[in-house]
Amino acid sequence: MSNEKQKTGSVLVVGGGIGGMQAASDLSEAGFRVYLVEEGPAIGGRMSQLDKTFPTNDCAMCIMGPRLVEVGNSLNIKLLTNSEITRVEGYPGNFKVEVLRHPRYVNEERCTGCGTCTEACLTRNRPYFEAVEPPVRLDPKDEERVTGIINTYQAKKEYLLAILQDVQAEYNYLPEDVLRYIANRLNLPVSSAYSLATYYTAFSLTPKGRHIINICLGTACHVRGVDRIVERLERDLSISCGETTQDLAFTLEGVRCLGCCSLSPVMTINGKTYGNLTQDGASKIIERIWKEDQ
Ligand code: FES
Repeated sequence: MSNEKQKTGSVLVVGGGIGGMQAASDLSEAGFRVYLVEEGPAIGGRMSQLDKTFPTNDCAMCIMGPRLVEVGNSLNIKLLTNSEITRVEGYPGNFKVEVLRHPRYVNEERCTGCGTCTEACLTRNRPYFEAVEPPVRLDPKDEERVTGIINTYQAKKEYLLAILQDVQAEYNYLPEDVLRYIANRLNLPVSSAYSLATYYTAFSLTPKGRHIINICLGTACHVRGVDRIVERLERDLSISCGETTQDLAFTLEGVRCLGCCSLSPVMTINGKTYGNLTQDGASKIIERIWKEDQ
């Protein structure tokens, strides 16, 4: 009975994934003061990394977004991110929990999450680049090719995206040393080049095949059996979806809806569309292209 009297009336929820957010939101609506502890820098958990959810194929962000807003707006919920629990003591109804909050190194009141400070961080970029690493040297042929592209844009940093597009077209991917060289020449932190190169799916940091197969994994194509065609192509090419053949002839990539669902199942190879595919049909197309290459 004495324990009953000493119940605290506040609740601690561990983990800011979709389950933790829902629990915190329900408890706060029920009138409890909630402490939501998340070890990562932000709530959202695994679901924030997903595009669609199984089995309904619903948009993950559409499910998660309202919970994020509820948790963020609720005056009853105290969010403790970058935090971990180091000690728990007490009894049901009255626990005492010790939480270690890791520093965030930014002013949380002012931060808008734009990420510019990461790109411009002198500690992370400039001294490392200049003091630790020698200036990037390319072999003369590469240097001539890349310098030609850079000079087309008067070596202006505003044209970084266009320069990367041209380099991608020239090499079929963005070699790491070339990326560093470009950053060096444009007097930019190397992370600026990397953040662009990793943001756009049109760029690749690994070599791609001469023929890029984009096979649609969207709903219409899925319903019409694209999975079996993907399996067939993976078998024929001895690679998994997302990989490139050893001879750099083909890269097989899965994409979401190519915008021609009436032709499903559908794929494009170097931009050319092939619709109403069958397993044998897709296999023959690849074989024909491979033979033409020889
Ligand atoms: S779902 Fe495949 S093209 Fe639309």
